[in-house]
Amino acid sequence: MSVLLCAPQVTPSLLMAVGSAVLGSLQFGYNTGVINAPQRVYNFVSSTWLWRFSEPISHPALTALWSLTVAIFPVGGMIGSFSVGLFVNRFGRKNSMLGANVLAVLSAALMGLSQLASSFEMLIVGRFVVGVFCGLCTGFVPMYVEEISPTTLRGALGTLHQLGVVIGILLAQILGLEWLLGSLSLWPVLLSFTVLPALLQCVLLPFCPESPRYLLINCSQESEAHEVLVKLRGTENVAEDMQEMREESHRMQQETSVSILELLRTPAYKQPLMVAVMLQLSQQLSGINAVFYYSTGIFEKAGVSQPVYATIGTGVVNTAFTVVSLFVVERVGRRPLHLIGLMGMAVLGGTAAALGCVNCKVHCVSALVCLCSQEQLAWMSYVSIAAIFSFVAFFEIGPGPIPWFIVAELFSQGPRPAAVAVAGFSNWSANFLVGICFQYIEQLCGPFVFIIFTVLLLAFFIFTYFKVPETKGRTFEEISAGFKRAGAGGADKYSASEEFNTLRGDDPDL
Ligand code: GLC
Repeated sequence: MSVLLCAPQVTPSLLMAVGSAVLGSLQFGYNTGVINAPQRVYNFVSSTWLWRFSEPISHPALTALWSLTVAIFPVGGMIGSFSVGLFVNRFGRKNSMLGANVLAVLSAALMGLSQLASSFEMLIVGRFVVGVFCGLCTGFVPMYVEEISPTTLRGALGTLHQLGVVIGILLAQILGLEWLLGSLSLWPVLLSFTVLPALLQCVLLPFCPESPRYLLINCSQESEAHEVLVKLRGTENVAEDMQEMREESHRMQQETSVSILELLRTPAYKQPLMVAVMLQLSQQLSGINAVFYYSTGIFEKAGVSQPVYATIGTGVVNTAFTVVSLFVVERVGRRPLHLIGLMGMAVLGGTAAALGCVNCKVHCVSALVCLCSQEQLAWMSYVSIAAIFSFVAFFEIGPGPIPWFIVAELFSQGPRPAAVAVAGFSNWSANFLVGICFQYIEQLCGPFVFIIFTVLLLAFFIFTYFKVPETKGRTFEEISAGFKRAGAGGADKYSASEEFNTLRGDDPDL
């Protein structure tokens, strides 16, 4: 971290702005991780049902209500992420983040009071509202962070969004321990805890600057943009940044703000949009949330004696490797890290599935895990833990952080909000799909469930290798110019990545 903190461009003002923004990412992570151990919700739903209808709830009804509680969160996320464009240009980046906290407070109230009101409907609505909020955050935060960061630190600072997410997941796993807030009586407090980062963000954000790109390019407020840049960069010498933004502003007069429909229809945006969407899909269809939604159950079935602590272990590995990525992303670049992550996950997924088939005659289920009967070798539980930890580590090297921030890099100011909305929507839809399908596919395919993820991961590896350009160290303008050139060269002749590699020939740094 010290390398990052000591970089001359990392000013207190920049750190404060990024730190305040990623409190939104933290809530996304928190609400992803908080639902991992289902027992307390099962308990609440069945006792409420019994009290209301004077008969015990049937098993299918209980499973359905539980699945709804889990799956409604990404449904909210889909709606929230798709709506990002409605807010960011009208209210600005900062005010959009600030205003969204109303949803966080509302959801915390709904979830926190659900037990008191004996209403599982309130819990479900609360999960939906917090999903909408998190969907908005996954658009607002990376966009704001990318727009205020200096070009050379965009990757490292962009990774802080994911760091916020993983710290949120870890916090939820720790606070969810039974002797902390995970008990049968305190779980509503656990769910409503999300209100604290929301309130903290409301206190901090008013002291943070608006995105200078938004001020200059969208609002034509040149002197305000200059003032903000001086503060963010900690120097009066911001002429180069100002010039780059002016040029973009000039070109924006032709492309102004682009609607989602225009984005989908315009041939020039086809290639970057495909890259953005595929990267999002590669993140979710890697199967990562099969681990984060169900790890306690997976570890339990794998014979791990303290599954909750193994789950916390995944959170720790997750956080540690996000920090690794933070340090290396500006040196190694986005493409290699994403490729390494995808390949590592694919190999682990394949190995786990093979292990499952070969070793377990009894009952093999899932996710990198050979779910054996208790009598089978104890070391299998250690293998399971190691496999899941490594899977998570490879994820955070690239596929975790990179897709979130690269979308803002691939587009200039005009189409950026619409692109972030479409990419976010794809991410959340895939998240939803994995969340609801995983358990069923696992029941159907046993250990082969991870073969599906392996095949997908290999396909995404090939796509990334051929189609994803390196964006490290390039200004937003240079990146979109690279795509335009690639487009002009003809899709068959040049892929964007080849075009960018050609461009890199004259840059000693790349
Ligand atoms: C990414 C994914 C999220 C996942 C998390 C795990 O942020 O978008 O769905 O839970 O990584 O660290």
